Amino acid sequence: MTSTLSTEKKTVSVLFVCLGNICRSPTAHGVFQGVVERAGLQSRIEIDSAGTSGWHIGNSADGRSSEAAKRRGYDLSALRSRGMAEDDFEKFDYILAMDSSNLHDLEAIAPAAVLNSDPQAAKLGLFLAYSQQSDYDEVPDPYYGGEDAFELVLNLVEDACQGLLREISCELS
Ligand code: 4NP
Repeated sequence: MTSTLSTEKKTVSVLFVCLGNICRSPTAHGVFQGVVERAGLQSRIEIDSAGTSGWHIGNSADGRSSEAAKRRGYDLSALRSRGMAEDDFEKFDYILAMDSSNLHDLEAIAPAAVLNSDPQAAKLGLFLAYSQQSDYDEVPDPYYGGEDAFELVLNLVEDACQGLLREISCELS
């Protein structure tokens, strides 16, 4: 959670969530990591990703996601799929779902403080609420799609990462 002790730097933590944690949320994880590093904020913004299903625990990102990300300069090679952990709702300031089905699954396991939008609780919502240029509300699942589907994921993710960085930068300053 956000730390405001005067002896410590304030940090903000973000968890990206999709179904499998091998396509969309690792893409958001890797892209946001790149965007945050370029902004010099890597010591102040913690980033992770998880899946609601647990189907691919321990697996690397899908090769199609890794390759598409690599073509734009983002490295997903260190990322491994994990499921949601019980304490994720306590540990993260932002928990951002890729689509409304993921959000619904998260709401089913979220503590009351999160569902009631308590100011101290994690902010739970759709990642594309931070979009700046696109009209999409959700990042479509590319798993059964072609190369275009993975390019669309990157377009949507890059756009929303800019909006998210803008919001978090305001919080940090
Ligand atoms: P993701 O995509 O939720 O973006 O990681 C999927 C990955 C795997 C499956 C579905 C979606 N699957 O059916 O195994």
